[in-house]
This record gives sequence, C-alpha cells and structure tokens, in this order.
Amino acid sequence: MKHWQLEDIAWDRFDATEVSAEIVPLIKSAALVERNGRTYAAYLWRVFAGDAAFGAEIGRWADEEVQHGEALARWAQLADPAWNFEAARDRFNAGYQPPLDAETSVRGSRTGELVARCMVETGTSSYYTALADACREPVLKQLCRHIAADEFRHYKLFYEHMRRYQAQEHVGHIRRLLTVLRRAGEGEDDELAYAYHCANEPHAAQYDRARCSGAYLAGTMRFYGIGHVQRATRMMLKAAGLPTQGRLSSLAAQGAWWWLNRPRAGIKSPATASV
Ligand SMILES: [Fe+2]
Ligand SMILES: [Fe+2]
Repeated sequence: MKHWQLEDIAWDRFDATEVSAEIVPLIKSAALVERNGRTYAAYLWRVFAGDAAFGAEIGRWADEEVQHGEALARWAQLADPAWNFEAARDRFNAGYQPPLDAETSVRGSRTGELVARCMVETGTSSYYTALADACREPVLKQLCRHIAADEFRHYKLFYEHMRRYQAQEHVGHIRRLLTVLRRAGEGEDDELAYAYHCANEPHAAQYDRARCSGAYLAGTMRFYGIGHVQRATRMMLKAAGLPTQGRLSSLAAQGAWWWLNRPRAGIKSPATASV
C-alpha cells in the first residue's frame, strides 16, 4: 500500500509563474530514472531469491519508485507542455540498459547490495528534500515532500534488512565503507547523465557523458545547502556502520561538500540559490 497517490497531489494549484527554469531539466531527468524502478526490482528479486517476505517489500518499493517517475513526469509536462515524457522515456530505454542481469549481487554479498541501496536512498532523500526546501512552485513543493518521505522510508527499509543480512554474512566496516564510496562515485555514472541527455537535449546532440553528468550535478547542487549534505553524510556513515556524530562525521560532510561543488571543466560552478 503506497503512502500517497497521484490524486493526493493538488495539481490544480500549479503556478507557472513560480516555476524555475533551472529546476525543470532536473525534474525531467529524475522522472526517467524513477520510472525505471521495476528494472531494479527484477534484479533485486534475483539477488534475494528465497526471501519471500523481503521480495514482497521490494515489489512495494518498486511501485513507489514508479509513482515518483509518473508524478514528476506529470509536473514536468505542466511546466513544459511541449515536453513528451513517453518519447523521452523511449529514447532513454533504447539507449541505456542498466548492467543488472546478474543472478547474485554485483556488490559481492546481500549485505553489500543493501548498503548500496541505502546509498541510493540517501541520495534521493536528500535531493528531494533540497528541492522541496528551495522551490516556490506549490505543486512541486508538495510532490517533493511526499517523495522525500518515501525515500527516507526506503532507506530505513534497506537499512533494516542490511542489518539482518550483516548478522549472517559478517561483512566488515571496511568493505561496507568501500561499497559506500564506490556507490557515491557511481552517482556520476551513465544513468543520470544519459537521462539528462534524453530528457533535455535534441536528438541531433551528441551524447557526452562528462558534460551531461557535470551539467546535472551542477544543476542539482544549486539547490543543496550544507545541512542537506551533513544529513546525507550521516546516513552514509550509518550504512557503513561508522559513528554518525563527532569529528569523523563533520570531516566527511566537509569533504562531501567540497567534492560535490568542485569545479568541472566547461561547467559553471554552482552556487546555492533560492528559487
Ligand atoms: Fe524515488
Ligand atoms: Fe527510493
């Protein structure tokens, strides 16, 4: 049972005068990635074969991710009536297939898989919280609040199951931390970059992963404050089984803030803005 439905969003309160042009490309890109949630569910069902109770929760999780994609697509089409979500989605699916045909986790263990899932939910929960805090358009604000609440619940779901598998598999802190760092680095991989390309660039444009990834991240960082990064850092440390308070946490947050805002070739350095 989902925690909210598309009908719960006050679509009729949409206010075009409050739409930020900078946010629209990000929402279009996110709609494509979120709508693909069932692709990941199929992979997770194989990785967690035999765990029927968790398998049922994976199904509910995927339904919520798909709803995020549908809701974001609906908002993006209100903000830009000329944008065709289905066409962008077909283009994205034709050019991008996630490397998820494995029978066992690409992270080396079920614990590692769930640490990686915690990382994804850390990223999405902080992202939609930052967007909700920054944007003025009332429908998007409400939508991002609902989605962020789902993403925090998803983190909790995967974290609790990670703890359960950790008790069986005894994956150490170092390996969990390595999975956290590796998954953080994959934030700039092909999926988001290609989604940005398909959602926003004309067919004639040549796909350039570094450019699209940089543009997406620079656009995203406009909406983040240090508080969002600090909270996300604590969630990452928790997933690795490390202390979430004290010097380590503060150093990690400062490092993450610097890394996310680092200058990139050809991309204007983002500044935190209120829109
Ligand atoms: Fe989501
Ligand atoms: Fe999620």
